[in-house]
Amino acid sequence: MGTGAFTVAIDGPAAAGKGSIARALAAHFGFAHLDTGLLYRAVGARGGDPLVAARGLTEADLERGDLRSMAAGQAASRVAAIPEVRAALTEFQRNFARREGGAVLDGRDIGTVICPDAEVKLFVTASREVRAHRRWLEVGGTEAEVLAAVVERDSRDAERAVAPLKAAADAVVLDTSEMTVEQAVAQAIRVVEGRLIS
Ligand code: C5P
Repeated sequence: MGTGAFTVAIDGPAAAGKGSIARALAAHFGFAHLDTGLLYRAVGARGGDPLVAARGLTEADLERGDLRSMAAGQAASRVAAIPEVRAALTEFQRNFARREGGAVLDGRDIGTVICPDAEVKLFVTASREVRAHRRWLEVGGTEAEVLAAVVERDSRDAERAVAPLKAAADAVVLDTSEMTVEQAVAQAIRVVEGRLIS
């Protein structure tokens, strides 16, 4: 791998497999990884004025143990609809993306808004039922409740006015509904390799 900036942007709905693919790509190619959902989760979890939380976000906020819960996901998607909150988090993400040695960022608007010039854009998706089932395996509870929460969060993310969840026109779409994690990762690696050598 040469040096220089090389950005892999991964977007898609909740529990489609973005995180697993992003971590695997980062490990395979030696890129840094940023799970941008954690930024919104940390803002939601801090409580109080979300804009104050976004402007004052620190590394320590990203290490809270409760950020992966369903409740934190719902709180994140509410604060993520506030344009000023998104604006406050943009520069940090862009700086991360252009660091030396390559970076993988996963989220909802990486290929569309944060890094429209990313060298690789992946849109990772899967059916609602498959995504709800995967999330349910992680969080427990009843599968119907998890499905309802996933559907609610998806529609809030897709319908918001600012930076809605959608595939960039030039994104490679990966539907992981019928794939194992290993198969999805192998496909993603092939896409990145194709861009690295061209
Ligand atoms: O990816 P994750 O499930 O952790 O994201 C939590 C929430 O944060 C999403 O439902 C979405 O509302 C918001 N988000 C966003 N833009 C990103 C990443 C996450 O709006 N780039």
